[in-house]
Amino acid sequence: TTRVFSGVQPTGNLHLGNYLGAIVNFVKLQADHQCLYCVVDLHAITVPVAVWGGPDELRRNTREVTAAFIASGIDPKQHIIFNQSQVAGHAELTWVFNCVARLGWLNRMTQFKEKAGKDRENASIGLYDYPVLMASDILLYRATHVPVGEDQKQHLELSRDIAQKFNNDFSASIAGNGHGDGFFPLPEPVITGPATRVMSLRDGTKKMSKSDPSDYSRINLTDDADTIAQKIRKAKTDPEPLPSEEKGLESRPEADNLVGIYAALSGKPKPEVLAQFGGAQFSGFKSNLVDLAVAKLSPIAAEMKRLTDDPAYVEGILIEGADRARAIASETMNAVKDIVGFIRKR
Ligand code: AMP
Ligand code: TRP
Repeated sequence: TTRVFSGVQPTGNLHLGNYLGAIVNFVKLQADHQCLYCVVDLHAITVPVAVWGGPDELRRNTREVTAAFIASGIDPKQHIIFNQSQVAGHAELTWVFNCVARLGWLNRMTQFKEKAGKDRENASIGLYDYPVLMASDILLYRATHVPVGEDQKQHLELSRDIAQKFNNDFSASIAGNGHGDGFFPLPEPVITGPATRVMSLRDGTKKMSKSDPSDYSRINLTDDADTIAQKIRKAKTDPEPLPSEEKGLESRPEADNLVGIYAALSGKPKPEVLAQFGGAQFSGFKSNLVDLAVAKLSPIAAEMKRLTDDPAYVEGILIEGADRARAIASETMNAVKDIVGFIRKR
């Protein structure tokens, strides 16, 4: 049996990279898996409060990510949408995993190095521990599949290492408590589609990001049609026409990125897109991309607006989702406590 888990941080500026790299796959996986999609508010506060914006902003962004999930087609009745802080097991399991994970493993995490920057002494302990909390998110539900963008690959590998070391360190107790070997499954990353790493519209060598100071670097899920059109028209390109084969995109990062975006939005593989547009100038290709992007994204923006205008409804989804998540989580936590040797009420 399979179970899907993924998370998105409520840190504002949800963009096309989040949508094509992650959320589109969340939607697809619903058809044949049980899915939990989490707004990871505990992760959001690992950066300085001035960056995540404080309590009102956090609540607003939490509802916005929830709205994006629903507007994109995730069904909160069939599956589970909730925010992380409502289920205590995330933080609880993190403590146990802190004692399983090794300092050397965390010291290798490239995202910590990027986010901490030069002033590492001033980074929060939470930012350092971020990947352990992520492993807990996944393993608290004993999830088997984790849809994410390319940038989360290293964190997924760490989750597997933590699961494996727990299974090993406690193998006797796991068996003694009547669990088959491999109490925790080793979660598999699901990194698929033509847009697992969407790049900045201003610089094809930088990833599209929530924190880029230029709003022209990304298409936000809340952008209106005119803004989307302007951003695509201003997107950086090179002077050559589009190639007709994929190898013609090598060392043309901006062209490669726009073709990948078109492919992902249209659901056509990149070679098919190139067969259609090969030899065309960018101006013509961009008008097609504008039409496609507006057609796919404006209904989502409109539905997100409708949902965020009703905070009580959106919060109700999170509360109900958390109740269902907690039921699964507490089974895992009870088993973990027995395996580790923590006495508990039965
Ligand atoms: P975050 O907003 O950092 O919580 O990311 C949420 C999801 O979006 C994760 O699965 C990321 O891997 C994915 N993601 C973020 N940026 C990009 C990007 N530029 N291209 C593809 N996927 C991305
Ligand atoms: N770290 C992920 C990101 O920034 C978000 C995340 C938190 C996550 N917990 C997770 C993704 C568990 C997948 C599974 O994109």
